[in-house]
Amino acid sequence: MSKIVRGALSAVLCSVATVAVAMPSAENNSAFTRAEQALNQMTPAERRTLLLGFSPFLVPPPERPAAKGAGYVPGVARLGVPPLVESDASLGVANLGGALRPGDVATALPSGAAMAAGWDPELVERAGAAIGAEARAKGFNVLLAGGVNLVREPRNGRNFEYLGEDPLLAGTLAGHAIRGIQSNHIISTIKHYALNAQETGRMVLSAIIGEQALRESDLLAFEIGVEIGQPGAVMCAYNQLNGVYACENDFLLNGVLRRDWGYKGFVMSDWGAVHSTSIRQGLDQESGTNPKDAAWFGSKLEAALAAGRVSEADVDRSALRILRAMYAHGLVDHPVAAGQPIDYDAHGAVAREVAENGIVLLKNDHDLLPIAARADRILLVGGHADVGVPAGGGGSSQVVPFGGPALTVSAKPTFGKKFYAKSSPMQALQSRLPNATVSFDDGTDAQRAAAAARQADLVVVFAEQYATEGKDVDLSLPGNQDALIAAVAAANPRTAVVLETGGPVLMPWLGQVAAVLEAWYPGQRGGEAIARVLTGEVDAAGRLPITFPASIEQTPNPHLQGFEIVGDKTDKQIEALPETRKHFPVRYPEAADVGYRWYDRTHVKPLFAFGHGLSYTRFSYEGLKLEGGRTLTARFQVANVGARPGVETAQVYARVDGVKRLVGWSRLNLQPGESRDVVVSADPRLLARFDVKGHSWRVAPGAYSVEVGSASDAPKLTGAVKLAAARLRP
Ligand code: BGC
Repeated sequence: MSKIVRGALSAVLCSVATVAVAMPSAENNSAFTRAEQALNQMTPAERRTLLLGFSPFLVPPPERPAAKGAGYVPGVARLGVPPLVESDASLGVANLGGALRPGDVATALPSGAAMAAGWDPELVERAGAAIGAEARAKGFNVLLAGGVNLVREPRNGRNFEYLGEDPLLAGTLAGHAIRGIQSNHIISTIKHYALNAQETGRMVLSAIIGEQALRESDLLAFEIGVEIGQPGAVMCAYNQLNGVYACENDFLLNGVLRRDWGYKGFVMSDWGAVHSTSIRQGLDQESGTNPKDAAWFGSKLEAALAAGRVSEADVDRSALRILRAMYAHGLVDHPVAAGQPIDYDAHGAVAREVAENGIVLLKNDHDLLPIAARADRILLVGGHADVGVPAGGGGSSQVVPFGGPALTVSAKPTFGKKFYAKSSPMQALQSRLPNATVSFDDGTDAQRAAAAARQADLVVVFAEQYATEGKDVDLSLPGNQDALIAAVAAANPRTAVVLETGGPVLMPWLGQVAAVLEAWYPGQRGGEAIARVLTGEVDAAGRLPITFPASIEQTPNPHLQGFEIVGDKTDKQIEALPETRKHFPVRYPEAADVGYRWYDRTHVKPLFAFGHGLSYTRFSYEGLKLEGGRTLTARFQVANVGARPGVETAQVYARVDGVKRLVGWSRLNLQPGESRDVVVSADPRLLARFDVKGHSWRVAPGAYSVEVGSASDAPKLTGAVKLAAARLRP
């Protein structure tokens, strides 16, 4: 890693110290060299400027940036170093609920869970590229994207922003999303490093977990995401990890991220996540402060410098990391300018593709779906399906969809409002089924909806659960929706349910309905995507990236830890209340075995397993050949043996120390009768245990059982393979 040595005085400014950097040999050195040259020309105050971010709305004019998102770090104009203009972008370029910038809109991508359900890195990269282009055109050069926290807690209010429960799937997709964003000469973060696995008490909880478990789960997702995506920045989380705040956690920042993974970018804090001048512990930049306040990386840093607790060399090291990332990712050579045209049509088409790829057909008795193009009477119930679909969840990721919201509903008790994108499932169905009569009941009166259902040939109930940053949900659909579905299904067994939720929900009515689709928050053109899947214009291609439990008792932590302390309080209230400032521990009985691994280990059958999802066609698997040795390679054939084109996601699992792990997958688009040879090779880290004492991944020699199939609980081919002993450096 780079090492900074204070040296001779610069020729340009005699008060400025020169830095000499030991460059990693493989690195294209121009970014380092240029960063070093820029740093050498900066005054100490200018160097410190790079270390402190502000809320752009609080920056007084004339400095206030034209593009106002979540953060702003002034540049050094005289040296051509631009400011960092930052926007959230988990699901599109966020616009803070539109409240602060009336009329501001952006493409609302489907939620992260929807993206993950597509299991399609290439598509996720294209979606990232579209969002990056949009950000650029709006004048942003840093996107606070790349949310890759694993879904440990199915009630986590931010699960909709994340990419599921598996480190390989989530890390791969996060890496590709980041790659797409950064193809626009801007920086993306990866976040929230690490273990911000619930919103309840996120600012005061201490995640307690052993290193081995952490390395094999959440850290592995980050590691893969960093390798593939090479993000310019890492955002450290609010919470503590084993009693130390993530943003002052030497183990996480200097140890794992920089020493072990060779990370060359910079670390920025989450907004309000800094509690000390933790530059030596590895934090480079404090985010989102108020210019009027004494910030840790502002006046408090100056005091620490004066007292000798921090040195100029510490500041230089961080400033250099930030500058290097800016040069390496093109921020200096390709400056952004606000107010450029945006191709919303093209981005909307990507959003629709993501939505339809991510829709998971959970159940389809007697082939109720796809809807046949007959002169049927079709009744849609609830979910405002007459006007639109949920554009996203609440909080910093919120996007006001282009075209304006079809509907805005106040969300209680926290963050923002619920927006519906103008993409009406009803209209989309009407245009696809011209001979059918498609009508709508808003679902507010279950008896009325049931009476209408009796007159229909087919009923589709739209059920929703709004989730938001800062608050966890429970697993039940809110309001009267469970009773509504049960009443409608009792009146007409030809009932399908379309779920528009952030994550898993319980389905007490499951036995009564014929079909269930999980459409997540389907975003900008989700209504069309749902209609295309319901009518079979495209296959139901999604596969669950998250286990759906049958009850909360099945999950590792039936009691939401810390809820009794912080309850429904907002982050601000938590900070203000002394009794909630104590750091309550959150423990993880599942340890490394997140999600489906937990259910496998405890021999519990969930409602729907990780990887599950039905297609409108049928697939056969055959010819499994396994190769062992240094790693595992599986070869097999998958054929479409049904009558329709379809998408299969062939999944390969291996048992490591008795527990099932996803080691690879292949997403196949097959015509009827078409067969494909598939080869999946495992990343050896997925076959290894992390040896903390030996500081390495260790593959134990011996036989490993392997399953190939269409879901974590649906093996089609099985076998065993012998692996050789291996030791890999982290
Ligand atoms: C969230 C981050 C977000 C930041 C800036 C925080 O509350 O945790 O994900 O990037 O705000 O909006």
